[in-house]
Amino acid sequence: MLKSDYINKIIVQAKKLGKTIVLPEGEDERVLEAAHICAEEKVAKIVLLGNCEEISEYYKNKGWSLEGIQLINPAKSEKLGQYADLLYELRKDKGMTKDKAGETALNANYFGTLMIKAGEADGMVSGANHSTADTVRPALQIIKSARKDRGVSSVFIVVCNGKMFYFSDCAININPSAKELSDIAMQTAESVLQLGDTPRIAMLSYSTYGSGKGESVDKVREATKLAKEVLVSEFAGKDVLLDGELQVDAALDGIVAAKKAPESNVAGHANTLIFPNIDAGNIGYKLVQRLGGAELYGPMLQGLNAPVNDLSRGCSTEDIVGLVALTVLQSQK
Ligand SMILES: CC(C)(COP(=O)(O)OP(=O)(O)OC[C@H]1O[C@@H](n2cnc3c(N)ncnc32)[C@H](O)[C@@H]1OP(=O)(O)O)[C@@H](O)C(=O)NCCC(=O)NCCS
Repeated sequence: MLKSDYINKIIVQAKKLGKTIVLPEGEDERVLEAAHICAEEKVAKIVLLGNCEEISEYYKNKGWSLEGIQLINPAKSEKLGQYADLLYELRKDKGMTKDKAGETALNANYFGTLMIKAGEADGMVSGANHSTADTVRPALQIIKSARKDRGVSSVFIVVCNGKMFYFSDCAININPSAKELSDIAMQTAESVLQLGDTPRIAMLSYSTYGSGKGESVDKVREATKLAKEVLVSEFAGKDVLLDGELQVDAALDGIVAAKKAPESNVAGHANTLIFPNIDAGNIGYKLVQRLGGAELYGPMLQGLNAPVNDLSRGCSTEDIVGLVALTVLQSQK
């Protein structure tokens, strides 16, 4: 039933891992159906948050089994107090009070994120009914960056004309500095390797090798320099190529690449596109989706201590199942 062979392969891998994924939006029919598919096909064990009676009734009417699905109503959960205490301890230095922690832990995205922090789930997929900011903020506050010297970013997996691409960062960092852009490229390299592909990274700009001038070009050039240094120190022996600054046509098209960047080892065959800011990234992924008919998964967050991933509010049931499977893969230590 799922569209791409790519995601079907990810599902096959996810099934081997037996992970537990929280879906906090148990009020949404797409999420309920995705939970049913994930549990039935053993993509992951599912925790569904919401009104347990209403969900049970819905499943009964559909003739679906609840095997492999744990239903939790945060407001009635015996763990609520424990999670509120955990939140208070983690955030008291940021002004969190005990009362506020009790109230905040009731929010499904916070409750799900606290389950991960408490070691009771491996990841979370949300966003069918929430903005990106509301989905990712609990993760940024509670799960935190895996590395103190790097922030969290995101990657979209893009299936276009049967080929795989990775777009970053289209969803989190609004206007990254050169250092942040370099970090985003490195995190995306790790994600692509973890997904079993070979990163060919283009640091995108409106300029190719100095054809344009300006602050934003300088930023991408500086980010490229920094990223190349990190590649040498952290990715030695791994098959990762990176180059910039490149226009997107030079990055993707061999004929344009031969004219604009003949020496580049990435131009013409890039599969990993690092956008200079969120405007470019967000517009870029929506163009390939709306005009190019590309299939998109994500944004998957990268650089967190445990995976929390965001759905688009226009997502389909298949999109949710795909992102659950990707989240399972990301949760491998
Ligand atoms: C990600 C985002 C929600 C964080 O902003 P925010 O909610 O205002 O959060 P704050 O700046 O108050 O930070 C909250 C916490 O997240 C942390 N944080 C924010 N951005 C971070 C990043 N990129 N990496 C790691 N941590 C980050 C902060 O350090 C802070 O931690 P603390 O409270 O423990 O000190 C914000 O950058 C954003 O809205 N991005 C764009 C999202 C969007 O609309 N995308 C388009 C749709 S796809």
